[in-house]
Amino acid sequence: MNPVSFLSRVCGAWRRIRASERPARAAIAWAHAHAQAIWRDAVWAIGDLPDDMYLGVWTGGVEQGCSDGDLQFFGYRAVAYRTLRDIRLHLRVHAPDVRRFVDAGCGLGRPLYFFSREQFDQLLGYEVALSIFERSRRQLERAKFRHKRFAAISIEHGDATYLIDLTRDFVLLLYNPFGPVPMARLCGRLKDARVAIHIYYVNPVHADILESILRQPAERIDSFIPVNYYFIDGAAERHHLPDTLGSED
Ligand SMILES: C[S@@+](CC[C@H](N)C(=O)[O-])C[C@H]1O[C@@H](n2cnc3c(N)ncnc32)[C@H](O)[C@@H]1O
Repeated sequence: MNPVSFLSRVCGAWRRIRASERPARAAIAWAHAHAQAIWRDAVWAIGDLPDDMYLGVWTGGVEQGCSDGDLQFFGYRAVAYRTLRDIRLHLRVHAPDVRRFVDAGCGLGRPLYFFSREQFDQLLGYEVALSIFERSRRQLERAKFRHKRFAAISIEHGDATYLIDLTRDFVLLLYNPFGPVPMARLCGRLKDARVAIHIYYVNPVHADILESILRQPAERIDSFIPVNYYFIDGAAERHHLPDTLGSED
């Protein structure tokens, strides 16, 4: 939650409490209902500041998204660094040789900056919301100018479910970016890919759709935000395809 929406939430609650017949009781009821969420948001935002400062970028804040039925994209909020660190531990064991990292719905690019210190030679983010993409692109230009380690990062504007390039093995990060229809569309493409894909689905709200299309069981990674991990071995299937080309030789 950003400071403006936080303040407007508190002011709205204050007005309701003052208008109620028993303000003290209303105040206690409100605090009880919201304290945990507010505390969690504050810890999340403040706790992530040092990592943003270390990387020299600003990826915090919240932006409202929208849904136009088919695109069904939700708002922006960056994944917590604590969760990225848990994914990194897993990744170092399960995908140490993969060189491409893709964030479908990259927002301001926090995972791209974070994982640029790992083994990847290409880190690619797709962002569908034009206003967020523009901010993200401007920040990336400045960051690349300051630090060479960000040179491998690029951000594209558009719908990731159509645009993701499936010609090379990759690690795919999804932080609950979209609704069921885009998720089914993306999974339909991933299912037919002939490359190895390591999927980290953070806050896996539509895991059921992914699992039914890809027919993959989830490995649960316990973290600040829950993460499901899936591995699609399309590369192995590619090796088992009948070799029709050159068979006449
Ligand atoms: C919850 S934010 C996550 C941002 C970033 N991945 C992170 O973890 O910090 C999800 C982002 O996905 C974007 N998004 C939603 N649907 C998308 C789509 N189909 N293609 C590309 N971006 C999308 C939203 O605009 C939003 O910025």
